[in-house]
Amino acid sequence: MNDIPLSHLLDVAICAAEAAGKHALENKERRTETNEDFAHDVKLVLDVESQKKAETMILSEFPDHGILGEEDETPNHNSAYEWVIDPIDGTMNFSHGFEYWCSSVAVRKNQKVVAGCVYAPDFNTFYTAHIEETAKVNGVPIQVSPTESLQRAMIFTGLSKEMEGSREPHLDMFRMLALNSKKVRINGAAALDLCRVADGTCDGFFETGIYLWDYAAAGLIAEQAGALMATYPRDGVPHGATVLCSNEHLIEGLRAIYTKCI
Ligand code: IPD
Repeated sequence: MNDIPLSHLLDVAICAAEAAGKHALENKERRTETNEDFAHDVKLVLDVESQKKAETMILSEFPDHGILGEEDETPNHNSAYEWVIDPIDGTMNFSHGFEYWCSSVAVRKNQKVVAGCVYAPDFNTFYTAHIEETAKVNGVPIQVSPTESLQRAMIFTGLSKEMEGSREPHLDMFRMLALNSKKVRINGAAALDLCRVADGTCDGFFETGIYLWDYAAAGLIAEQAGALMATYPRDGVPHGATVLCSNEHLIEGLRAIYTKCI
């Protein structure tokens, strides 16, 4: 199989993220139309519609590639390429009219993420990267923060949608980080949080209840901006993981806290 140029894959990721995000934005008066309602999550009609927009864009260019989306998947085991889509990351924010949400599209080749785009429509911001280029925001290179100690760091996190019942390591980690960092913040869109690690706005990110589509594109963007990621798959949860991400100075501190809390 011929290699597809990374720049071409990235262009398609950008177009697909834009298609999903624009569809949601242009239809935001329908943002509360709901397909399913859970204790700590909601599935919107616009989630499904927006994923379709991204898929249509991708498949018009690469009809034989696989699709793995938050809302739906169409695997193709004969193709080395698979597109990982979160049409609306930060669904709760979007449904409440809070601007902190985004559309995320990554492409994997033989299971490795090689290019990705996170588009934040309400901020008119595109975060992009492929594996041979530095990460960019709206075409301008970005870099992680230089912060050297957790005591001086602002860390972003998210609250998992699966919080019922058993002991929740996330809350233990939240407590330890709140006590040991300068500030912890919860904004509600993991992909955008990772992009804000990439552009140096915050110093690190962690979340225990996260999925591949939440971090595929943004994780690459963070890494290509100089971040280090630690990803721990969650037993029995397909595509589920705990993700830690920060600059090189803080990652061991995050890892140590995670290890104490699991
Ligand atoms: C959610 C957001 C949120 C995070 C949740 C995710 P969704 O994604 O990224 O920040 O805390 O764990 O599920 O459902 O809005 O695409």
